[in-house]
Amino acid sequence: MNRKYRKTVIAGNWKMNQLVSGVKPFMEELKKELPQNKQCDIVLCTPAVMIPAMVKAGKDCKVAAGGQDVSKYEKGAYTGEVSADQLLDAGAKYCIVGHSERRQYHHEDDMLINAKARALLAKGITPIICVGESLEQREMDLTIEHITYQVKAALYGISATELRHCIIAYEPIWAIGTGKTATSEQAQEVCEAIRGVIRKMYGARPARAVSILYGGSMNAKNAEELLAQPDIDGGLIGGASLKPADFAAIVKATDQ
Ligand code: PGA
Repeated sequence: MNRKYRKTVIAGNWKMNQLVSGVKPFMEELKKELPQNKQCDIVLCTPAVMIPAMVKAGKDCKVAAGGQDVSKYEKGAYTGEVSADQLLDAGAKYCIVGHSERRQYHHEDDMLINAKARALLAKGITPIICVGESLEQREMDLTIEHITYQVKAALYGISATELRHCIIAYEPIWAIGTGKTATSEQAQEVCEAIRGVIRKMYGARPARAVSILYGGSMNAKNAEELLAQPDIDGGLIGGASLKPADFAAIVKATDQ
């Protein structure tokens, strides 16, 4: 973390878990566990239907609501899609794009992810842009090349002013939901490389100001060490964001 130059962000990704009716009780529990003086921005990215409930329940403990996906289209005949305007209207301040589960199960490519990030920025929603390598790519020593390509493609056509409203999340695919965390050295190496790519694209100042999160089996035990790395500015947390005490413990780990 480097609080002098950028925000620390702890974002939960509920994926396709929880119910609308469960949001209020969850948030009541979380409120009890969260520290009074939080050292970070907190967001919970829920299924779109839960966003209004999250906005309501998160207000007094300053937890923002986020979506997990958005349509690249503005509006119209796109059955099943949710637009950036609709997310905004529901109260979302953030939205994940390019999560590896969407890349894998919904065949999303880098061009589509770029279009989605731009659709969000056009409405003032902060995209949390996910990038990450597979185990095969890591073993073939292709991690940095792959991440560089993903970051460049995702940020194509995004201005330096818009970049200030972007968050990048580095999530090695082999670490997601597996209990296998990247070591803090591995995570730092890639997050530093991501900042290097952004520096080449936008210059030193914008690169210094962008928050880069780590995601992949982050939990109460390993959070402190990961967050102590200079280029890791927070976390994108799946499994551990489903339990108020575990999520709050990660928030507390930013207090170092
Ligand atoms: P995990 O998920 O924390 O359960 O590994 C992270 C993510 O997919 O964002």
